[in-house]
Amino acid sequence: MQPYTHEPLTNFSEEKNKKAFQDALDFVQSQLGKHYPVVIGGELITTDKKIASINPANKEEVIGTVSMVDLELAESAMQTALTTFETWKNWAPEHRANIIFRAAAILRRRKHEFSSYMVKEAGKPWKEADADTAEAIDFLEFYGRQMLKIKDGVQVYSRPGEFNQFGYIPLGVGIIISPFNFPLAIMAGTTVAAIVAGNTVLLKPANSTPIIAAKFVELMHEAGLPNGVLNYVPGSGAEIGDYLVDHPKTRFVSFTGSREVGCRIYERAAKVNPGQIWLKRVIAEMGGKDTVVVDKDADLDLAVSSIVYSAFGFSGQKCSAGSRAVIHQDVYDEVLEKVVALTKTLTLGSPESADTYMGPVIDERSFKKIMSYIEIGKQEGRLMTGGEGDDSKGYFIQPTIFADVDENARIMLEEIFGPVLAIAKARDFDHMMQIANNTDYGLTGALVSNNREHIERARREFHVGNLYFNRGCTGAIVGYQPFGGFNMSGTDSKAGGPDYLILHMQAKTTSETL
Ligand code: NAD
Ligand code: ALA
Repeated sequence: MQPYTHEPLTNFSEEKNKKAFQDALDFVQSQLGKHYPVVIGGELITTDKKIASINPANKEEVIGTVSMVDLELAESAMQTALTTFETWKNWAPEHRANIIFRAAAILRRRKHEFSSYMVKEAGKPWKEADADTAEAIDFLEFYGRQMLKIKDGVQVYSRPGEFNQFGYIPLGVGIIISPFNFPLAIMAGTTVAAIVAGNTVLLKPANSTPIIAAKFVELMHEAGLPNGVLNYVPGSGAEIGDYLVDHPKTRFVSFTGSREVGCRIYERAAKVNPGQIWLKRVIAEMGGKDTVVVDKDADLDLAVSSIVYSAFGFSGQKCSAGSRAVIHQDVYDEVLEKVVALTKTLTLGSPESADTYMGPVIDERSFKKIMSYIEIGKQEGRLMTGGEGDDSKGYFIQPTIFADVDENARIMLEEIFGPVLAIAKARDFDHMMQIANNTDYGLTGALVSNNREHIERARREFHVGNLYFNRGCTGAIVGYQPFGGFNMSGTDSKAGGPDYLILHMQAKTTSETL
């Protein structure tokens, strides 16, 4: 077994890589319009009610359609997963991990194809799509290895005449509910973590990106996953989501998405329903309002690029996006001017072009929500650049910056989930930490500083799950920077971290008198 190392990103300045990606895009173009059925116990089921997945950069283009489950099919999927659990839980962990490693190898071979689906379905520019696929491969490779690490349990002590053991067993049937913004990486990571740990799952993907999930389910079966372990159940979040979260046989829910839906799931899952004999586990990874903080003694060019790329990568649609910057008053004007200048160089356009930095936002609902925050921003700050949207062909919004924003303004506190950056001026380091911590969230943050004392203070005082120094606040790498947040950012499960699989398992102690 090779030691784990993260999947390298593709260098698109090399012509051969550019061509390979363009070929994959052409291939995906030829696949558009297909239908993807529900998958329960390996059976492909086409239903009357369908989701049409559209290209957010070109509303006329249908990527494909997906069958939706109704309550009857959701129940059938639950029964299948329950039955399959009785065999899957007994598979040797090595054999479960082997399937995951095979899936990683297939995904690596078909990397650009999967990335191209994300360009089309999620509007991800090439680099963002490539990073998403690389992260998915990392999750597979990392969780497979983690399973091998924990399969024999952890050593506990035994007294003379006694033999004690401590190990982890799977939980049961899990409901995996994933977001649109990392439609491959988070969907695949949350799914395989549950599966490799010996659970069976029902996967409900985001309704704007169900096709990339359908392709992944196909891939897992190609890798040898037995039928019934991974059941693909697209459907209405409100209807199917609630039904499965409430179901007495649901053992755990692994959710990634908005605070609103995450809190709803957390509350509903807490209720013990008739026929239920356990307390459900909930992993809920939710939103963020993440800050890049710039000290007065700092590399200002580094600060500028950290702010801009953290704010506008994938049009700001990352839970980790640096949607606010807090800058020391002594360097405020200089940094602000450079941030605006760099932002003006970002290209906004079709994600299918290799040169595009920023594509569209995901759908009409997001477009309207972000544009309404831009209107709020115009009351709360000084518009420095951007501020316009165009939804005539796709959902395009210019990278937008508001300066001189009060620390308690709505655009400083609420997750916008779009290309909108709020900038505030701070008096001193105390003030910087105070602003950085004044949200309900606590996911990521960055400090750009050359002041050692301030770095050490931030290490203690900056209350976020992922804190970065002298870089931006996005782009955590599986196995290197375990990812998850505090407070209303969620349960801090730390995806890609050493404890993640255990959240999908329960510990059992045995003690034998010799
Ligand atoms: P969302 O909450 O709208 O949807 C997430 C999933 O929940 C979708 O599959 C949706 O269909 C489903 N859903 C909707 N209603 C449901 C219900 N009542 N019961 C069960 N499921 C239901 O989120 P989104 O727009 O897809 O993603 C963006 C959000 O996700 C942002 O807030 C972002 O910060 C967050 N996010 C967090 C992380 C993290 O690791 N903390 C990572 C990625 C995204
Ligand atoms: N893991 C992703 C990041 O760190 C969300 O940007």
